[in-house]
Amino acid sequence: MKPHFLLVDPAHYDVSYVINPWMDPEIWASDSERLARQAREGFDTLVEVLEKAGARTTIVAGQPGLPDMVFPANAGIVLDRRVIPSRFLRAERQGEEPWFQDVFRQFIVGGILDEIVELPDTMRQEGAGDCLWDATRRLAWVGYGQRSDEGSAAFIRDAFDIEIVSLRLATPRFYHLDTCFHVLPRGEVLYFPDAFTEHGRSRIEALVPAHQRLVASEEEARQFCVNAVAFGDDVIMAEPPESLLRQLQARGYRVTGVPLAPFILSGGGAYCMTLRLDNVTR
Ligand code: ARG
Repeated sequence: MKPHFLLVDPAHYDVSYVINPWMDPEIWASDSERLARQAREGFDTLVEVLEKAGARTTIVAGQPGLPDMVFPANAGIVLDRRVIPSRFLRAERQGEEPWFQDVFRQFIVGGILDEIVELPDTMRQEGAGDCLWDATRRLAWVGYGQRSDEGSAAFIRDAFDIEIVSLRLATPRFYHLDTCFHVLPRGEVLYFPDAFTEHGRSRIEALVPAHQRLVASEEEARQFCVNAVAFGDDVIMAEPPESLLRQLQARGYRVTGVPLAPFILSGGGAYCMTLRLDNVTR
């Protein structure tokens, strides 16, 4: 089956507020026309590359005043055709919630999803950005401590009846798990150790054997290359440094870099710009 990704059209994308250390509205404002054009080109390239690698894409419209809708990884967690819609920590993104709920309802009507599972009212959880399905180990890696609540891990475990490993995110710069952790299709884990606590690092080391651990450098993490989309032999990411390219190619992956600089200016890369809709747990 083709992997299926949701993306959001970038027509309303910009950087106009600051909710993470990457965001710089002044840089955006100083060159907004060119950056918006580059964002459109980067988005179109990402879609093209995904489709060329064999994925199916569904693109929905964004909304004016909600620029970060272009990062649907944060809209919800989808597993086994069931979705847990997100509740955002930051007021700037809370307005996205009803729009994405609407998208999910339409997916149910369209036969793409079966069921919506509501988070408890007071729980914050920012979707697949903080919940990465590991098809090799049949478990979900869950991030918390920056945007998502610690308690969301147990909720996710029970809602999907799956094993989870929760990892505290130690720094505001790597505020979603997907900025510093990625599971490749053959089970390797690409991660930036400094983004985790000592305890988190030892959890990762206990579950992922040394030969499957690919340590990203700070430079690679800062270029949002850990924030990758991968399926089959393909790994798609913001333009990687030579070091990472070689490391992945040596493992037999076909790596495609996409020019995503305008999105990195908001703290997002290729993974954040997609939400995978067809992951199954068993
Ligand atoms: N500006 C957005 C935010 O701070 C970027 C989100 C990127 N998404 C991600 N899954 N890392 O929420």
